[in-house]
Amino acid sequence: MLIIALPKGRIAQDTLKIFEKVFKKPFIFDDKNLILEAGSFKFLLVRSQDIPAYVLNQAADIGVVGLDVLEEQGSDLTRLLDLGIGKCKICIGIPKNRELDFSLPEIKIATKMENITRKYFSQKAVAVKVIKLYGSIELAPLVGLADAIVDIVETGSTMEQNGLKIVKTIATSSAHLVCNKNSFVSKKEEMLAIYTSIKKVIS
Ligand code: PRP
Repeated sequence: MLIIALPKGRIAQDTLKIFEKVFKKPFIFDDKNLILEAGSFKFLLVRSQDIPAYVLNQAADIGVVGLDVLEEQGSDLTRLLDLGIGKCKICIGIPKNRELDFSLPEIKIATKMENITRKYFSQKAVAVKVIKLYGSIELAPLVGLADAIVDIVETGSTMEQNGLKIVKTIATSSAHLVCNKNSFVSKKEEMLAIYTSIKKVIS
């Protein structure tokens, strides 16, 4: 039995499309049904940010997760394949009528991605105060909570609607197929079979 953790949220639909092509059957999860069985496979529907925890602790053998989440959490998982879906950028945004003032003794940055943000600015030797938020990040610079934000940009409409502009793209991300290192050894044949099938449908 191979257990596969699939993400809810922005990459859910495109991920399910890939698995529907591989298994040639519809994948329908509802709110009360977070586990789906198909032959010798079991699928778990998991919040994106929780995928690494499931795979790392071997509650799932394989998962689909954004590179942004992997980088932020620094999880020790094997990256099998870039699925080429859920493409987005991680950007620094500021209000359109302002400039990012690098001469400030400390720049205040609001973000969901504390680790990526700290790493980026420390490599640039810029002192930042990172304010961890869980959503509606774009509000922070509009009300003086932060000078800038570091956030996911997909279409750009959230920044646009909130009068923010991108001043720098610090990374790009897309959804990846990842696996548990022990599962990769103990379930190698099943793992390679699913890897090959997925690779075929995405290419
Ligand atoms: C991200 C991000 C922005 C939005 C950007 O949140 O924090 O709010 O998407 O997308 P856009 O460029 O297409 O407007 P997400 O939808 O991942 O939701 P979350 O707050 O649940 O992480």
